[in-house]
Amino acid sequence: MKIPFILAKRFVAGESFTESIPKAKELNKKDLKLTLDLLGENIDDRQTATDTVDAYIRLLEGIKEQDLISSISIKLTMMGLDIDHDFTRENLFRLLDVAKAQDQFVRIDMEGSDHTQITLDIFKEAFEKYGKHVGTVIQAMLHRSHNDIHELAEMGADIRLVKGAYSEPSKIALQNMPAIREAFKEQAKVLLEKTPFPRFGTHDDELIDWLKSYAAENEISKDRFEFQMLYGLREETMVQLSDEGYSARVYVPFGTDWFPYFKRRLMERKENVWFVLSTMFKK
Ligand code: FDA
Repeated sequence: MKIPFILAKRFVAGESFTESIPKAKELNKKDLKLTLDLLGENIDDRQTATDTVDAYIRLLEGIKEQDLISSISIKLTMMGLDIDHDFTRENLFRLLDVAKAQDQFVRIDMEGSDHTQITLDIFKEAFEKYGKHVGTVIQAMLHRSHNDIHELAEMGADIRLVKGAYSEPSKIALQNMPAIREAFKEQAKVLLEKTPFPRFGTHDDELIDWLKSYAAENEISKDRFEFQMLYGLREETMVQLSDEGYSARVYVPFGTDWFPYFKRRLMERKENVWFVLSTMFKK
């Protein structure tokens, strides 16, 4: 059964870049920066991966043409990570060549734990070659992140710290919220101390308030780090953070392959399910 797009509309800006432009401009007008994400994951044929890189390049060009304040977020499984690592690296570098030439930024999202090591390996190579034009994501819940964060921070990498959206076993990841929040705070401290401009992807007031207080107590200025949230969630809070002088960026997904992303948002928070159910019953 095909699920109608209207149900995902709260979390997905449109089924194409063109359809998402009005939403993107509206957010920029509110002083919110963006990172645009062409949805999709786990591609298993080379032609689709190559087409995806072309689409990402068109997206970078579209951002320039539309004068949007936006980076892009990508997934390596959309560039062939499940097929061939060398092929994926070539694809990523083809995209980063364009990003560098146009002075744009590409963030490599982090996927499930079976992809963590190879994603970080490819990121490190990319960072060596493209520096400030590429960044990645660390999931605080993973046990390994304690070490990864130190290594990446020493490199001065541009990191978005998140809790982690994928269901992982206890051997690999923390399972309860207080422990995940503690890990997030510890890793945030490392990033704030050692990297020029860390980003924090969370909607969690406890973490947002903690970040604000920690930064103030340690004389870290408001424009030395960034809050990031997902499209459709807590927009008013983002506007408020921006008004208070913090950098605030919205992750704006679009595309026809929206179902896995949509499902993760529903699994994360029961209020999201209620929202979708209420959409179903509205005329
Ligand atoms: P969480 O869902 O844990 O909720 C904790 C508390 O926060 C709630 O009890 C409530 O108090 C408050 N809260 C949460 N949502 C709220 C809302 N909508 N309104 C009001 N209060 C709310 N994951 C990943 O694995 N790889 C990635 O690359 C990324 N990238 C990414 C980018 C960005 C910009 C964001 C914001 C998130 C990601 N994530 C991600 C997802 C991330 O790992 C995580 O799954 C979600 O952000 C959910 O965790 P939170 O800390 O946001 O709140």
